[in-house]
Amino acid sequence: MKDGGWEKRTHYCGTLRTSDVGREVVLNGWVQTRRDHGGVIFLDLRDISGLVQVVCNPEVSPEAHAAARQVRSEYVLSCRGVVRARPEDSVNPRLPTGEVEVMAEKVTVINSSLTPPFEIEPGSGVEETLRLRYRYLDLRRPDMQEALLLRSRVTQEVRNFLISRNFLEIETPILTKSTPEGARDFVAPSRLQPGKFYALPQSPQLFKQLLMVAGFDRYFQIARCFRDEDLRADRQPEFTQIDLEMSFVEPEDVMSLMDEMFAHLFRSVLGVELPVPFPRLTWREAMERYGTDRPDRRWGMEMQDYSRLFRETEFKVFRSALEKGGRVRGFKVAGMRSPARRELDGLVDEARRLGAGGLVWMVRDGEGLKSPAAKFLSLPETEGVVRAAGLEEGEVLLLAAGGEELNAVLSGLRSYCAQRYAPRPDERFSFTWVTDFPLFEWDEEERRYKSNHHPFTAPSAGCLEYLEERPLEATSDSYDLVLNGVELGGGSIRIHDPELQRRVFGILGLSEEEAAEKFGFLLEAFRYGPPPHGGIAFGLDRLVMIMAGRESIREVIAFPKTQSGSDPLTGAPDVVYPEQLRELRLRPI
Ligand code: AMO
Repeated sequence: MKDGGWEKRTHYCGTLRTSDVGREVVLNGWVQTRRDHGGVIFLDLRDISGLVQVVCNPEVSPEAHAAARQVRSEYVLSCRGVVRARPEDSVNPRLPTGEVEVMAEKVTVINSSLTPPFEIEPGSGVEETLRLRYRYLDLRRPDMQEALLLRSRVTQEVRNFLISRNFLEIETPILTKSTPEGARDFVAPSRLQPGKFYALPQSPQLFKQLLMVAGFDRYFQIARCFRDEDLRADRQPEFTQIDLEMSFVEPEDVMSLMDEMFAHLFRSVLGVELPVPFPRLTWREAMERYGTDRPDRRWGMEMQDYSRLFRETEFKVFRSALEKGGRVRGFKVAGMRSPARRELDGLVDEARRLGAGGLVWMVRDGEGLKSPAAKFLSLPETEGVVRAAGLEEGEVLLLAAGGEELNAVLSGLRSYCAQRYAPRPDERFSFTWVTDFPLFEWDEEERRYKSNHHPFTAPSAGCLEYLEERPLEATSDSYDLVLNGVELGGGSIRIHDPELQRRVFGILGLSEEEAAEKFGFLLEAFRYGPPPHGGIAFGLDRLVMIMAGRESIREVIAFPKTQSGSDPLTGAPDVVYPEQLRELRLRPI
């Protein structure tokens, strides 16, 4: 017996089965529902393991019945009673405990509760801000508990796996200096050094590299990262990475170990066997076949280049695009057959919305093609299209003409078609590695080269000769892992040669002074014998979101922020007291 007269549980509510019949048990939990059947009161009592029915019969225990009469939803109880089999006609096959109930002998109200602002039930369609305002109630819902349980199991299995492979778990600072991931930093003012700021890490990138210089060989961390960027369903201002780094490795070593890690994770947590090794595409192949560096390959609908068929065409749109050095590319729509004109017009509208000048559809119709372009096409062109696309009766080919901007249009259209027409894929989880990203990209606004990944990413060996002459042609020893069209993680082999690092900084337009000011500590460390090293980081939130079949990472984070970066529960971000500002030598705005 505890203070206040409550008894500690002997069992969890959701675990009782017919094998427990006859046993006296004590349960602790929350009242999910209370039903007063004139005389007998039924309580559904819930804890982390699920719920069970407690029967309060005045003839068995007048005290328990009297206590149950004042009980309401979400009251906290301790109940002692005997497990019995439910009468056959009241068995609930939808409940794991549905064959039993507990005949209450004693009911103690440990705490009362206000009426919750929404029902504690799965998916009850409550507005998200309200859910986040009362997150502790929202988290009582079984689907939210499942998601966080899954998340905990995932981190546990990641730890198990990595520790079994000689990784050390090491923490790195949260109050630090700007890191190079390229988003905006969150900063924290220093009181002891007025006018100076810490930056919160966008990732532990520089520290994990220093740990390799320190000789730790294999590091990992379930690391909190902070990025001040625009938020979306798969982006939060603070999020968690499975972050790791290894010494004396090549890309293949990192990727094959990660194949094993995900196979282990999905087997141990979901009981799913993943086919490994995961398929690999170079960045160039991915762009060519899917128009994006994070393709969801389950939908098929690979893009093809049809330019060769239209070199001499009378169809002006294609001809002029080809003459300007463009291409004619497109894909066959999976699952679409003999569509109505309205649907085809819908596709053209969508292509325009995605920024295309136009879109040409072609539908196989007997020996020929139905298409706005049909009357301009020669017989060989028509036959060529049918053959190259493998078009069967009623099937639809979408073609667009232009330059590289077509990638975004066609990949957007591919997603649009996948959602509307393609049959549901058999594969639940489709992993793909995308490798060899360009080392640099051109930033038109700032008129300079930027690192595609970050400035420490190693160029591919074959590109070293022409780095300065043709930077945009250089590829890197980098790899992203894509799961169901979501970028799950990315990493690279790092530069460990100071001379090469200097060249890369040079192309990025970073002077020696600027580089020293930003990353001087790393460059200095690299003068003390850095090993060749590389690593990767995965978004834990995104991984758990997909494993749990949810649409947003907010569904798998205990206390996430809204789209505008605020937390309706605590009211963060908030103003601080004037004294706090004074201490920090900051002026209120
Ligand atoms: P990168 O910047 O690609 O690499 O991040 C790795 C992964 O982190 C996840 N992620 C996010 N998840 C939720 N909200 C966000 N705002 C957010 N931003 C990123 C993504 C992404 O793939 N230091 C390098 C890794 C390395 O080179 O080892 C890095 O951070 O899933």
